[in-house]
Amino acid sequence: MSKLIIANWKMNGSVEQIERDVSIYAKCIYTNNPSVILALPNIYLYIASQIKNKLGAKFSLAAQDVSEFINYGAYTGEISATMLKELGTKYLIIGHSERRAYLNETEDSLVNKIDNALNEKITPVFCIGESKSIRENGKYINFLDNQLRILLQVKSSFDKLVIAYEPIWAIGTGVVPNGEQICEVLKLIKAFVQNYLPHAKITALYGGSVSGVNAYEILNLPEVDGVLVGGASLKPDDFISICTY
Ligand code: 13P
Repeated sequence: MSKLIIANWKMNGSVEQIERDVSIYAKCIYTNNPSVILALPNIYLYIASQIKNKLGAKFSLAAQDVSEFINYGAYTGEISATMLKELGTKYLIIGHSERRAYLNETEDSLVNKIDNALNEKITPVFCIGESKSIRENGKYINFLDNQLRILLQVKSSFDKLVIAYEPIWAIGTGVVPNGEQICEVLKLIKAFVQNYLPHAKITALYGGSVSGVNAYEILNLPEVDGVLVGGASLKPDDFISICTY
């Protein structure tokens, strides 16, 4: 099965860049594939979905967040899973460490967001990851297990579930954990899902400083079902070379 390669553009891009890159990805054999997923700012998601439909492109689209409120209502500035679904959004990143840190996302809001995604049949990409100090004091397994336990509060049932391990110390730093460290956590994730959510089909990703240079090695680790790419996903040459694993 193809591995999932998710481009998380974060708060980057422009109309010009979207039009250019989406057309490139639609024509490239390595990226015009449902397992290649572009997670774009919502406003560009709309443009990308239009170009995708026009070109009949096969890559998938994702949003980087979703409202914790359901469907429609008086929630100024919010965008619901229902609205994102209408644009053809197949995946939703939920609980990225940047949102947990800068937007103060609470456990309750993460649970609601996951429920909202599942209600619209959008696959959640739930992110977990420890800080440098937690890694260094050796308590990371317990910390990650607690982050995973948020999933047990979700009311809807999981059919498919993507979990991304993104250690905070590896995001945007150029520092990448070694293969053993990545596999240790992805094994933990898979064992957790097998124990507590046995009906969910789990896809476990690694994210943090993935580049055209290190992607081949990471994607060929036994536990890695895909990668979540930040900075390198903004440059089509780098992103395409990641997708050629
Ligand atoms: P970088 O690839 O820039 O380290 O970002 C990783 C990330 O946060 C993806 O969600």
